[in-house]
Amino acid sequence: MKILRNISLASKNTFQIPVIAKEFIILDNCEDIYRNYNKIGDKLRNAFVLGGGSNILFVGNQNIPIVSLGFKGQKLIKHLRNCVLVEVLAGTLWDDFVEWAVQRKLYGIENLSFIPGTIGGAVVQNIGAYGAEISDFIENITVLDTQTGEIKIFPKGESGFGYRTSLFKQEGGRFMVLKVSIRLYKTPKFNLSHKDLQAFRNDNQLTLEKIRKHIYTVRNRKLPDWKHEPNAGSVFVNPIVNKNKLKELQQSFLDIPYYEVSEGKELFREDDKNNNLYYKIPAAWLIDKAGLKGFKLGGAKVSEKHALVIVNEQDKTGNDIYALIKHVQNTILEKFGINLKPEIRILVNGRLVN
Ligand code: EPU
Repeated sequence: MKILRNISLASKNTFQIPVIAKEFIILDNCEDIYRNYNKIGDKLRNAFVLGGGSNILFVGNQNIPIVSLGFKGQKLIKHLRNCVLVEVLAGTLWDDFVEWAVQRKLYGIENLSFIPGTIGGAVVQNIGAYGAEISDFIENITVLDTQTGEIKIFPKGESGFGYRTSLFKQEGGRFMVLKVSIRLYKTPKFNLSHKDLQAFRNDNQLTLEKIRKHIYTVRNRKLPDWKHEPNAGSVFVNPIVNKNKLKELQQSFLDIPYYEVSEGKELFREDDKNNNLYYKIPAAWLIDKAGLKGFKLGGAKVSEKHALVIVNEQDKTGNDIYALIKHVQNTILEKFGINLKPEIRILVNGRLVN
């Protein structure tokens, strides 16, 4: 365990905002936590656990302990008939794990290739892309309950997963993810439901590498690279509206795109449909339609490449990005009557506001 004081967080968030953390605690292994809990329990109760820093906006200096988990790696723990269970430590980079799986011809998570961040963050946020979500593959999650010091195991069904959310996100830091058990398949099980993967439907020589390469190309084409244009991916979740609201919007905006969803999940097959249909509208389309693509506020800008992304041009405190988020929300509310909710976590002077 290491405790650093007054360090810059610039290299620890993909917005690259150089605010200061009063205390930065690095935990190198789970034993570190058990061994030191008496000493650091109080700090952990008030801390924010930072994953890859790819989904967070720091606004101002952070006067709470920021925790970074240094334990990494994955281990195959069980062979079942058509699948395996793999245990992945929280500090593992998500995409290192996807690559590991692809190299071993283990199927399932390839659609989630190239998403930045750690597996701990991926679980909290229930990352998703191209018709898949990490929760589709989770068996259980081992966490530290920072309130009591107990280690708990949450089966997937008790983890409150939804569209870009989980119990661990909703509880705002009470549960620190330590490791995750993931189910992967030994035989091909491609998910080609998303429009960007439809071209592969007739490919009878499809491989995991092909999918991974294709996703690399699509992501590169659509999303700005944070290493050149600091950003945190989608800033807002796509809003979900009911049928009446959709009809109302269609009266003014004939071309409004939407996907049918049930419980936040997209439906791709006729037989998935039930009576509880809702409609997901791409927030990027709303922002684009409102004329905000490329809009600048101080050192922050709505990306010209993708309207759901905000790029940090020269914001040193997070205040400009935060103000731009509010400006986008107000504009969309005024124009469409829709409340856009942030997808990213927002920490204002150590207080989690989202
Ligand atoms: N669009 C615009 N203007 C733009 C960009 C997009 O009008 O500048 C419209 C287009 O109509 C497009 C639609 O928005 O068809 C949807 O865009 P896209 O296919 O890029 O997907 P998205 O809904 O914006 C979601 C995820 C992404 C994920 C992609 C692919 C959320 C909040 N975001 O984006 O996840 O990669 O689908 O599955 O659900 C992330 O979470 O950080 C992230 C990048």
